[in-house]
Amino acid sequence: MRALLIGSKGQLGSDLRRVWSGELVSLPHEEIDVCDGPQVAALIARERPELVISCAAYHRVDECESQAQRSFEVNAVGAKNVADAARDIGAAVLWVSTDYVFDGEKGAPYVETDLPRPLSVYGTSKLAGEHLVRLSNPKHYVARSSSLFGVAGASGKGGNFVETMIRKAKEGEPLRVVDDQTSSPTLTFDLAQKLQELAATGRYGLYHVTNGGQVSWYRFAAKIFELCGLEPDLTPISSEELAAPARRPRFSVMENAALRSIGLQPARPWEEALEAYLREKGHLKAAATPA
Ligand SMILES: NC(=O)c1ccc[n+]([C@@H]2O[C@H](COP(=O)([O-])OP(=O)(O)OC[C@H]3O[C@@H](n4cnc5c(N)ncnc54)[C@H](OP(=O)(O)O)[C@@H]3O)[C@@H](O)[C@H]2O)c1
Repeated sequence: MRALLIGSKGQLGSDLRRVWSGELVSLPHEEIDVCDGPQVAALIARERPELVISCAAYHRVDECESQAQRSFEVNAVGAKNVADAARDIGAAVLWVSTDYVFDGEKGAPYVETDLPRPLSVYGTSKLAGEHLVRLSNPKHYVARSSSLFGVAGASGKGGNFVETMIRKAKEGEPLRVVDDQTSSPTLTFDLAQKLQELAATGRYGLYHVTNGGQVSWYRFAAKIFELCGLEPDLTPISSEELAAPARRPRFSVMENAALRSIGLQPARPWEEALEAYLREKGHLKAAATPA
């Protein structure tokens, strides 16, 4: 299948380029701006892919609170531009959304049929993007994922949580990390593999795609330090103490129910994914050698 990848230099885009087994044309931000509808239409018509994948997003969650216009331009109108252009040449679209479409009050893992209720401008703009993609192009895969980390680091956020934690720990900075927000951290390499499997099915629809298990940011940080052999000054705090501009869901774990329903196995547990990531980045503490 000939696929076109938008946002190809980002964290997920880089891993899609690593895992994709078919023909994949990559378009980085320098060559395409999803907000420019005519340009998007022209480039997609020129390349004539069967599938258009878009990883383009404005996802600095706190910044989005004061940048509603830009959030909706990229995450909603931009998503529609891509879905429209794909539809116009008969191609399918695969678009990536977020667990931040949920309010986190369910108290159990969310399934695809649960009603979203975002708490932030970012989550609202992504939910609008979901609706516009689904409205525009019947051949759509909307894949919600959460708490991404990957070897390329999120270009939109200047790295990822894992690298930030390791860097600050090595600098000796005391760390205060929220312990009342729980999600499923997801390795972009694993997500990319699942997206490729999904795209091969032709089973269009809405999917939750994450690594297995759940953990708070504080406990995630603690696991990173344990695996790296670091012992920083790490303190759990509440979201109220952090007082970030954007509200985030307290519990946004997503059951990969739709994926299972079409016979695909969800990705491995987050602990295994984290270990694989740390090994690839050379962060893993040397294993104790037997005496
Ligand atoms: N990161 C997370 O924790 C997380 C969690 C759940 C869902 N998601 C979703 O997962 C997807 C991929 O995230 P990621 O972590 O891989 O992000 P990323 O590393 O920031 O990658 C996004 C890519 O899109 C490009 N881009 C931004 N605005 C664009 C525009 N207007 N037109 C074309 N390209 C544009 C960026 O280029 P520049 O860097 O040059 O701007 C970047 O290469 C996004 O849809 C995001 O909303 C992310």
